[in-house]
Amino acid sequence: MKRILTGLKPSGELTLGSLIGGIKQSILYQDKYDSFIFVPDLHAITVPQDTVLLKERIKKNVALYLACGIDPNKNTIYIQSENLYHTNLSWILECHTYMGEASRMTQYKDKTSKGEIVSVGLFTYPILMAADILLYDTLYVPVGIDQKQHVELARDLATRFNNKYGDTFIVPEPLIPKIGAKIMDLQNPTKKMSKSDGDTKGSILLLDNEDVIRKKIMSAVTDSDNKVYYDMENKPGISNLLTIYSALSNKTIKEVEELFKEYNYGNLKKEVANIVVATLMDIQKKYQEYLNSEIIEEILNNGNKKASEIAKTKYEIVAKKIGLGRF
Ligand code: TRP
Repeated sequence: MKRILTGLKPSGELTLGSLIGGIKQSILYQDKYDSFIFVPDLHAITVPQDTVLLKERIKKNVALYLACGIDPNKNTIYIQSENLYHTNLSWILECHTYMGEASRMTQYKDKTSKGEIVSVGLFTYPILMAADILLYDTLYVPVGIDQKQHVELARDLATRFNNKYGDTFIVPEPLIPKIGAKIMDLQNPTKKMSKSDGDTKGSILLLDNEDVIRKKIMSAVTDSDNKVYYDMENKPGISNLLTIYSALSNKTIKEVEELFKEYNYGNLKKEVANIVVATLMDIQKKYQEYLNSEIIEEILNNGNKKASEIAKTKYEIVAKKIGLGRF
């Protein structure tokens, strides 16, 4: 089975946008591919993190993913920092990366061009990401468009290494969802609903309570036309609500438009709130069950064991080819 691998950075709270845009995709992939999902906590610390929050989020996000339908029997789930081969391979890859190509990575470029002071870790972050991918003979890496450049670096490094030392790494491919539903901010529907710590009036967090969810949806920004139909350009607010309903009901946009064509905006919002509440209450119930059980520990222990074995084998092949130690 072809291998797919993705990392879920434990920064920020997961939102309805994460569920519909990302997690639902992973649920589809788990039946088709040998799926690896890991928590890149070493990537999170490239920018300052709150120690307590970071620790909490690692487990919380794993529990949420499971509650959303990521099946622990179909996925290998582990934590990056517990597996030392990631950083070991990263170092070797750093020694095969040119300063110029690392300097072209946008995240680093954007921050430094604004005059921000950044860590060396932020600079080398894409190389650690390449190690995450190449350690496991990953073929597909599902990422958003913002991460595509990093997967391309991983491809370049894999090819360079293979040319120099003989076939060692699979050259991975980014998997960008074709037209997966993109959920927009409820207050500013031309901007993506993203994980966030700050003002969350426009984002529905997966752990928001029922009242908060209803309030946020009822106060979503719309337009003054008062006709319900899908037109992302001229009616981004209404189109976003229709997209949310469509994704959660598994109906097409056309079917949803038809269903609500006689509704006014207030009643449409009530229907959208109902389906979001029903979906998230179910997820939250399962989330609590996961958090209160020992099963997460067991899933992470098993995942770590399996991932470490694969990573060790690959690392030793690499170290031997280079002439390191006594491998
Ligand atoms: N850089 C990714 C992000 O910011 C997270 C990540 C780290 C990742 N390593 C990865 C994603 C390997 C895919 C594969 O979201």
